[in-house]
Amino acid sequence: MADIVNGRENWGNRPGFVLAAIGSAVGLGNVWRFPYEAYSNGGSAFLIPYLVAMVVIGVPLLILEFSLGHLTQQAAPNAFKRVGQRWEFVGWWPILLSSIIVCYYAVVLAWCLNYLVFSFHNPLPWAQNSKEYFYNSYLQDSGSLSLVGLRRPIVVSLAVVWTAMYFCIFKGVKLVSKVVLWTVPIPWLMLLILMVRGITLDGAIQGLEYFLEPDWSQLKNPGVWLAAFGQVFFSLSLAFGIMITYASFLHRKSDLNNNALIIALADFGTSVIAGITVFATMGALAIKAGQPVHDVLAGSESVGLAFVAFPQALALLPLPNVFSIIFFIALLLLGIDSAFSITEAALASMVDKTGWKRRSILLVISLVGFAVGLLFTTHGGLHWLALIDAHVNQGFLGIIFVGFLECLVLGWVFDIKKLRRHTNQNSDWQVGIWWEWAVKLVIPLILLSLLSWNVYHQIKNQGGLIMNKQGELMGTNVLGLALLIIVFLAAIILGLWRPHKISQVTEFDS
Ligand code: PHE
Repeated sequence: MADIVNGRENWGNRPGFVLAAIGSAVGLGNVWRFPYEAYSNGGSAFLIPYLVAMVVIGVPLLILEFSLGHLTQQAAPNAFKRVGQRWEFVGWWPILLSSIIVCYYAVVLAWCLNYLVFSFHNPLPWAQNSKEYFYNSYLQDSGSLSLVGLRRPIVVSLAVVWTAMYFCIFKGVKLVSKVVLWTVPIPWLMLLILMVRGITLDGAIQGLEYFLEPDWSQLKNPGVWLAAFGQVFFSLSLAFGIMITYASFLHRKSDLNNNALIIALADFGTSVIAGITVFATMGALAIKAGQPVHDVLAGSESVGLAFVAFPQALALLPLPNVFSIIFFIALLLLGIDSAFSITEAALASMVDKTGWKRRSILLVISLVGFAVGLLFTTHGGLHWLALIDAHVNQGFLGIIFVGFLECLVLGWVFDIKKLRRHTNQNSDWQVGIWWEWAVKLVIPLILLSLLSWNVYHQIKNQGGLIMNKQGELMGTNVLGLALLIIVFLAAIILGLWRPHKISQVTEFDS
């Protein structure tokens, strides 16, 4: 298969694209977010809203993004420009938001890399007290948003992460399709090893009961449904401009609908395996530490799970070094293809817009990403990370809003029938008229409810939009909102900017 089709580079083969999209979807969120969401929202009963969410918004949105990228053969901003000049910003907005995300996502990968190196030390340095080790010895957390001092080990490892990302994508998607042949299956294998070992430990059943015992009454709770929609949305990397961009490199004759389904199922399967692994292991930790499962699970979410709770379990169970190494390799590889998918989306958008050299733009992106990432390597870095993550992912004008707008623009302004015809043309199975209405009405309504719910909780938890709990006038919400407004304006400016040289744009062929 030719590398360049109609002047655009190409994945070369179907597994390349599918694996790259899976690589983007399957990330840290599957390990540190899904298990906790399931556990706090009804255990195995959560699988019902989750599967519904996958059918109602996950697969339809994936198909929407694939069809737009594939039809226009352009990364997100130019793809939206095809809808109308004024809509180009809808493509830039997620690119800018995810460019912020990649700056701290890379820092978390840098922590994983440091922890991977520490895993070779015997005994493991966090064996005594993983919490104390992570916050005080490793991060040297100041407990506030202060910007003093850089943590040298994190900075060094961040430079390694950005260099690795550079070399994964610098040659284009052809190389990406080779890289993902390793970065997708290896963490699966590692997770499987950790799962088998987890379920064979004493106490595993106890932990699994916590995870899987269904609490059907939770299905009446709208919050549980919204949690499922939110998790599917985040986990499938939707509305980040990534899937549009990845699909733009697909060969003209490519099945879109089936690929969307395969990717969603692979992502779901990984989450379930990760959930079983985490809870079986935490059950074993409870027995070993002589504590109730409930207590060892406290704080077992996100950073707390990956760097405190799970490492503690690894340290107390047999063969601590071996399994720590396996765990951190898994995290690192799970995360790196998600991180470089963001970089690739930003890179392809810039290349499509300006026609400038791919490698030069990538070098600039990597250097800027590294420089911004330094913010998160300071003693207050963890708090900056939490602040920015909360706003970009859940705040008003954040990613969910982008998804909402994307549906409205493609559903009502663009000819959605054309997208449906296009996606059905080469696909094994066809989406019906229901898909158009899902995009036009159902998904925007769900995303709007999710957004209102998140913003309401954010304001409630932090005690108001302007005044936070401590009564500080410059509340973190204001900081977060200001950031989002700046990003929004920047997206509009980028949309209006007409560089001298515009790359060649191929014609629609449907
Ligand atoms: N889908 C990734 C995860 O589950 C998160 C992510 C979102 C990564 C968007 C890249 C872009 O971890």
